[in-house]
Amino acid sequence: MALVLGIESSCDETAAALVAGTVGGERQILAQAIASQEAEHAPFGGVVPEIAARAHAERLVPLIDKVLKEAQVTLNEVDAVAATAGPGLIGGVMVGLVTAKALAMAQGKPLLAINHLEGHALSPRLADPSLAYPYALLLVSGGHCQVLRVEGVGRYQRLATTIDDALGEAFDKTAKILGLGYPGGPAVERLAATGNPRAVPLPRPLVGSGEPHFSFAGLKSAVSRAVDSGQHQPADIAASFQQAAIDCIIDRTRIALDAMGPVTALVVAGGVAANKAVRAALEELAAAHALPFTAPPLALCTDNAAMIAWAGIEKLAAGHGADPLDVSARPRWPLDPDAELVRGAGVKA
Ligand code: KG4
Ligand code: ZN
Repeated sequence: MALVLGIESSCDETAAALVAGTVGGERQILAQAIASQEAEHAPFGGVVPEIAARAHAERLVPLIDKVLKEAQVTLNEVDAVAATAGPGLIGGVMVGLVTAKALAMAQGKPLLAINHLEGHALSPRLADPSLAYPYALLLVSGGHCQVLRVEGVGRYQRLATTIDDALGEAFDKTAKILGLGYPGGPAVERLAATGNPRAVPLPRPLVGSGEPHFSFAGLKSAVSRAVDSGQHQPADIAASFQQAAIDCIIDRTRIALDAMGPVTALVVAGGVAANKAVRAALEELAAAHALPFTAPPLALCTDNAAMIAWAGIEKLAAGHGADPLDVSARPRWPLDPDAELVRGAGVKA
């Protein structure tokens, strides 16, 4: 059984976790701690990279101490130190990666440089040991909206991506337009629950097109126009936006599923996977394809360090070995480097 310390600092969550487990068997999150920077960024309506990097630098070491104490583990007992090495806001990524390098070097432990997206992509296997490769994954976060065939550690086939905004970004922008503040996704979901999803006519960009890609920029502009018209209740706008977004992801994911080879399950991961309406719609889509549906528990959907530690355990088990101590932080790091470049895709992390 491997015991891995995970570190996450790629956006606005500073996190540390200790995870023990084997790929074929038991797994356990021994301790995890997350310090959210919501309060620091809220006055600016979004994440300010300089503020984020500084907050990570101040909080990370105390968080690592906390999880070690809670799990009653010493650094010496850890088998490896895994940290997000990208993609993300580079200042924050560097804080986590440099800290992991120092700990790995001081303790003589392997350093594992983890792709944050791989953390999200493998997180469903931390929660569900029966989930086997290859599976279809809808990865929906603040910076990404992709459908991937997850074939194994480091082995991804990307079938679809967004040509402009990510889905989480669309939720965040809608929240901003509606004056719901930051972070926007959960606030839009709460307001949408009280509105009528058919009250406001909104576009479903790219629905019906043969390529399975996503687009949300036009939807966001339509939300803005609906607000400016003064003709609709905010709850109806939120509900109609959420429904339009769901109609888009279901149509696009269906096309991607039809285009990929056989899979064991349909899986959703990333921050927007915390949205209950999104989960319910995907569960129906999976059933229509006679596939099991898996989504990580809510706490593993948004950014966390347990998924980084787990990706480390998967990498060790797959025989990837340690990364060199001079490995670089990467602002961009696609899971499938062979995927065709799509306009606007992956511009943000
Ligand atoms: O995966 P994540 O924590 O960070 C990134 O790697 O981007 O995803 C954050 C995104 C944000 O855009 C946030 O608004 C969205 O996930 N999100 C949600 C919900 N919870 C978080 N969107 C819709 N409904 C939610 N309940
Ligand atoms: Zn993330």
